[in-house]
Amino acid sequence: MNNPTDIKERVKKNIIWKSIFRRDYRNTVRDRAQAIFGNVFLHLHPVQVREGAVKLRFTWGMGGITFFAFIILVITGVVLMFYYHPSVSQAYSDIKDLEFQVPFGVILRNLHRWGAHFMVIVVMIHMFRVFMTGSYKAPRQFNWGVGVILLVLTFMLSFTGYLTPWDQLGFWAITVGTNMGAATPLLGYQGPFSEFLHITPFNDVRFALLGGSRVADNALLRAYIWHCVAIPLVSVILMFVHFWRVRKDGGISKPHK
Ligand code: HEM
Repeated sequence: MNNPTDIKERVKKNIIWKSIFRRDYRNTVRDRAQAIFGNVFLHLHPVQVREGAVKLRFTWGMGGITFFAFIILVITGVVLMFYYHPSVSQAYSDIKDLEFQVPFGVILRNLHRWGAHFMVIVVMIHMFRVFMTGSYKAPRQFNWGVGVILLVLTFMLSFTGYLTPWDQLGFWAITVGTNMGAATPLLGYQGPFSEFLHITPFNDVRFALLGGSRVADNALLRAYIWHCVAIPLVSVILMFVHFWRVRKDGGISKPHK
């Protein structure tokens, strides 16, 4: 019979558990110190960095460039917020005013828009590089997982930002996107099992995303809050974990000799 202590010990020996939690916390001074060195929030800087861990010809610098694009987007995005109201009656004209009335407004808007396209492209190249150099293998499998979430978050930032100008492109993208949500199994009213689970157009995932049953004011407000607050916040936290983890996994992987 398995008792709870056995199960705990087996979970701790599991390969997935060990890829996330490197150190067992026992109460010695050394273990407590290691627990602090190994925690991104308590000890951001690495205890040691190996020489040559950042060779450009191996990494292409694509992760760093992705981060750089993100910083540009945060800065230009905050400035854009000064000129924009997330309401159906004002959003589109705010963007046109920004382009044609505000000094350098067109540059500001395009820095943000092209910066977003750029980030999506470079994050995919970064992932491609990591895959081609086999850097997803142990001990980096956890960081690959964090990366996959960052990739999804990057796409979500791009998608939610697309609606904010309230132009035809954005309007129809959100219409199609949320209709896909309506057809999702277990979540949407048009998806499989919806009758069994009593899912209707008024309590499904589409309704939650739109804040109603139509693409209207609430949908714009929700996309705006996801875009400017929730997704960037989660992304920043995960980026810190990602960078810290590169260090904790012994620096960037090395090419085979
Ligand atoms: C917002 C998105 C991301 C940012 C800002 C970011 C940033 C970085 C940076 C700065 C590095 C250091 C090495 C380098 O520059 O190549 C790195 C390494 C790494 N990244 Fe990302 N990354 C992102 C997304 C991803 C994605 C989508 C994946 C894969 C699914 C991924 C997996 C990894 C792995 C496994 C490493 C370690 C590579 C090695 O040791 O050679 N990252 N990342």
